[in-house]
Amino acid sequence: MAIASRKLGFDEVEHRDLNFGMSPETVPRHWFGNDPWTTHWMNAILAAVPDGERWVMQATRKQLDNIHDPSVRKAAIGFIRQEHTHAREHDAMNEAMVAHGIPVDRVEAVFKVVRQTLQRYLGDVSQCAIAATFEHFTAVISQVMLDHPELWDDTKPEVSAMLFWHFVEETEHKSVSFDVFMDASGGGFRAYAIRMATLALGVAIFVPLVHGNWLYFLWKDRQLSNVASALRAAKTLFLSPGIFTRAFVIETLPFLSPRFHPWDTDNREVIHAWKRAYEETGDAHQAYQAFRQWHAGDRNAAPVGHAAAA
Ligand SMILES: [Fe+2]
Ligand SMILES: [Fe+2]
Repeated sequence: MAIASRKLGFDEVEHRDLNFGMSPETVPRHWFGNDPWTTHWMNAILAAVPDGERWVMQATRKQLDNIHDPSVRKAAIGFIRQEHTHAREHDAMNEAMVAHGIPVDRVEAVFKVVRQTLQRYLGDVSQCAIAATFEHFTAVISQVMLDHPELWDDTKPEVSAMLFWHFVEETEHKSVSFDVFMDASGGGFRAYAIRMATLALGVAIFVPLVHGNWLYFLWKDRQLSNVASALRAAKTLFLSPGIFTRAFVIETLPFLSPRFHPWDTDNREVIHAWKRAYEETGDAHQAYQAFRQWHAGDRNAAPVGHAAAA
């Protein structure tokens, strides 16, 4: 019988109710490295984030009373709180893009119709499997960003601080949806079959939709003919570090294994640098700066204005 190797207790899910004040002043039109093509690729993903996060919250909340493992239940409650705050902050960021003339709101409306349709036809356990798939992709994209913070060198620190907080928390809770799904489904071959079917469904619907929306944003922003930016995006997304290739090709392969578990890749050390600084200062901006110093090789980096961190 096919069954995932469960690795419980790796999640360190802590809710931080942070408000980053995202606005058109804070978030420039081409906020990701001043580059239109990569910014709009990110916008195409982020357009799906608030509604997608509310969907995974709903799917998880429905299972709370059925979860057998108390540690999974506790992590699931923390996960719901984290995603609630992420959705709120990304609503503000998406509204800032709308104010810049990028029709993120229209794209969000399309995602909402797709989500409502899938909710109508899929059972609760299948929706948990969809949540596990989404959370796998958000965890992998977060991992690539945490491994390559140099991609953020030309991004305003206010924007980077918000997104790195999100990348850290996506990593903290990366196995929650998977564990909830395994608990709700009972595991075994049936669970694997549902997971593969919903992976195929999710990829077939969302990958073309996101990339169609990418072109739509570029067209509305009159950037389709910006060849220099298109080449930069091609390198970043497909070659080095290859955000798309890593998320949707290379890291999809282990997800296909019946024995897959999100914590097969244990990258907790990377988020601990951010968390140490956050716990010391209570400030996500200083935590981002300390994380950058840590990543650059100063493993004893202290948050700005504070004594040396442990
Ligand atoms: Fe999130
Ligand atoms: Fe998440």
